[in-house]
Formats: sequence, C-alpha cells, structure tokens
Amino acid sequence: MPKPSSVPVRVGIVGAGAVTGYHHVPALRLDPRAELVALCDTNQELLARRASQWDVPWTTTDPEQLCHREDVDAVVVATPNHTHCPITLAAVESGKHVMCEKPLGLSAQQAQQMLQAAQAAGVVHMTAFTYRFAPSMKYLLHLLRTGSLGQPRHFRSQRFLDWPETSWGWRQYRATAGAGDLYDMTIHRLDFAMGLLGPLARVCGAVARFAPRDTTPEGTPCPPSEVDDWSALLGIFRSGATGVWEGTTLAKGYHLRGFGHEWAEVNGSEATAVYRLHEPNVILLGRHGEDLQPRSVPVEFLKPQDSPRPTEGDDPATLFRYDLMWEFVSAIVQGRDAVPSFADGYRAQQVADAVLESFQQGRWVELEL
Ligand SMILES: NC(=O)c1ccc[n+]([C@@H]2O[C@H](COP(=O)([O-])OP(=O)(O)OC[C@H]3O[C@@H](n4cnc5c(N)ncnc54)[C@H](O)[C@@H]3O)[C@@H](O)[C@H]2O)c1
Repeated sequence: MPKPSSVPVRVGIVGAGAVTGYHHVPALRLDPRAELVALCDTNQELLARRASQWDVPWTTTDPEQLCHREDVDAVVVATPNHTHCPITLAAVESGKHVMCEKPLGLSAQQAQQMLQAAQAAGVVHMTAFTYRFAPSMKYLLHLLRTGSLGQPRHFRSQRFLDWPETSWGWRQYRATAGAGDLYDMTIHRLDFAMGLLGPLARVCGAVARFAPRDTTPEGTPCPPSEVDDWSALLGIFRSGATGVWEGTTLAKGYHLRGFGHEWAEVNGSEATAVYRLHEPNVILLGRHGEDLQPRSVPVEFLKPQDSPRPTEGDDPATLFRYDLMWEFVSAIVQGRDAVPSFADGYRAQQVADAVLESFQQGRWVELEL
C-alpha cells in the first residue's frame, strides 16, 4: 500500500496534446491539493505555447528528465500509446506515482510489465478510464451493488462516433497505436463493463477497417491506416451474465455535440438501468412492464465528496472527466490504491487482445483474469 503524501502533490505531465488540454490541466487547476510543476512534450513549439498558457515553471522535451526530477511527486503520461510503457517504467523507477492514459501499452504484455513495476515500487498507479467517473455510471454501480436491479443478466454497450475519414495521425498505425477503435474506444467499455459485472470468462470478437485515411485533414497524402475503425464482441462474464459491445468511428449522423452516441445498460432480473454519455447526470430506469424513464442521479453521486468542481454550467459530459485527476491526487494524499488502477488497465487490455486473437483464429477465446 502506498504511503500518504503531503500536500501539495507536485505533478509533472508528459504529453501536452489534446487530452491534457481538455481534461488533465483543467482538473489540476480545480484541485487545491495539487500543483502542476513540470511539463514535457517532444514538440517544442507546442511545449512553449502550453507552458506559457498553463503557467508551468519548468519544461523539457525529454520524458526521462521529467521523471527523474526531485521536485516531481507524480507523473501523468498522456502521449501516444507506444510511449506509455517506457515513460511509465522510467517514472516508477524514480519512485513517482503514475497516472497513464489508456490503453496502457501496445499489448497486454506491456500492460502487465507496467503493473508489475508499479507494484514493486509501491507507488500509486492509475489507468485513465474516464467514463467510470460519469455520475450515471457510478449510480449504476451503486444500484447493482445494492441489489436494486436484481441478478444482472445482460450488459450492452454502443459507442458510435461520426468522425472525419481523414488521417488519425499516430492513432492509425500499429507501431504507435497498437489497434484502432478497439484500443481507443472499446477498451473503456470493456473496463467499465467489468467494473460493473466482474471479470469476463470468454469472448468472441471482430474488427474491421473501412476508411483508408490516406490523406491528412489538410489534404496532404499519407500512409494509409493499418488499424480498425469498427470493433465488436460478444462476451460471457464469469458470473454467467452476457455482454454485447459495438464501437465505430464511422457512424454518419451520430455527431451529438461532438460527444457521439454512447449507450450502456444492464438488464437485471428486477430492472434495467442505462448510462448515456451526453446526459451523464441522468439515468434511465425501468422495471417489468414499464418503459424506461429518466431519473436524476442523486446528488451524492454527481461528484466526489469534497471536490470543488461544478456539476452544472459547462457541459456535464465534460465536467465529470475532471474526477479522474481528483481520484489520482486523492489516492496519493490518502496513501491508498487508485481506482481504476493498472490492474484494471491490464485486465481490459487482456480482453482487447483476446478479441484480436478470436477474430484472427475464428473462435471463442477463454480468459483467466
Ligand atoms: N481517457 C480518455 O478519455 C482519453 C481521451 C483522449 C485521449 N486519450 C489517450 O491519451 C493519449 C494522448 O492522446 P491525445 O489525444 O492527447 O494525443 P495528441 O496527439 O493530441 O497528444 C500527444 C502529445 O504527446 C507528444 N509526444 C509524442 N511522443 C512523446 C514523447 N516520447 N515524449 C513526450 N511527448 C511526446 C506529442 O507531441 C503530442 O503533443 C493517448 O494514449 C490516447 O489514447 C485518452
């Protein structure tokens, strides 16, 4: 178990790109227990701009330098997928707490290596599985744990995005991304499904690629995509419950304010409960013979206790994402494991890799999670 740390927790971020700007820095700004002291990015121009915008006192283009700094307690890894493992290993070797973006690595094997290194170093480790923090997702977990839905029978997840068919940059090459929609989007849904219903026992899945993505958004030709833009699976949980997942980036007409369509539900023996990303402070509930009805998520599930973040105002589908950083800093200050941890990141990636194996071999794959 990690030891409690004193406040402020001094955070260094590696990767000054999109997710850092959208989620991690706004979340740190709201947290009086944390301080952003160091920033790293290999893109010098972006690094200089972000450091000035975010008022960060120290910058580097070398992740190892940031990881070895005495005045950094915790490292956030928010870089392309192929760099997660080496940067995380450097950080935990220096005794830093680490929150790493998903997918943890380029394979479940890398994720396991990261988990083992973090456990051996006794640091707090966390996987950035953002959607676990949606208020309706937390309430759904509460309803399951307290038996309100009865015996869970079916889990169902849809994640439909209407993205342009131009290049995804590093996201579309196996060497830098590992896999496409499966590692980018479906992996979150594998994680929260197991957070709700426990480990999966077996899966049968498929992936597909439709868009060549051989042109950048600026119109320059580039090497075509090597990864999936659609992923789907059937799964059987160890409990006997069934699961069905489908994700795509090519669902025309599913723009929905840029958030896309997300629906995840549990059908229990007593009731059904539904989480939807675009309205995360509302859950849909229904019992036998009824139609699903919207209900406001009770106030105690809207944000973590003591968190100063607003629950209204900006779009709630953005606001709950700040709770990820709150959980990381809370685990460090309280000297406890973070949830979701690298163990959850490893478990989800084992399932994702089993989906690829299942599709390549045309068979169900058994899991030992
Ligand atoms: N949890 C979520 O909901 C969520 C959302 C978006 C992205 N992500 C994940 O976050 C990670 C980053 O995604 P993004 O959308 O911010 O990508 P991005 O391309 O916008 O940003 C990545 C940044 O990392 C920098 N970089 C590349 N290699 C580096 C290295 N070796 N050292 C330091 N900096 C380096 C790049 O210059 C770039 O600025 C990915 O793993 C992605 O899957 C997670």
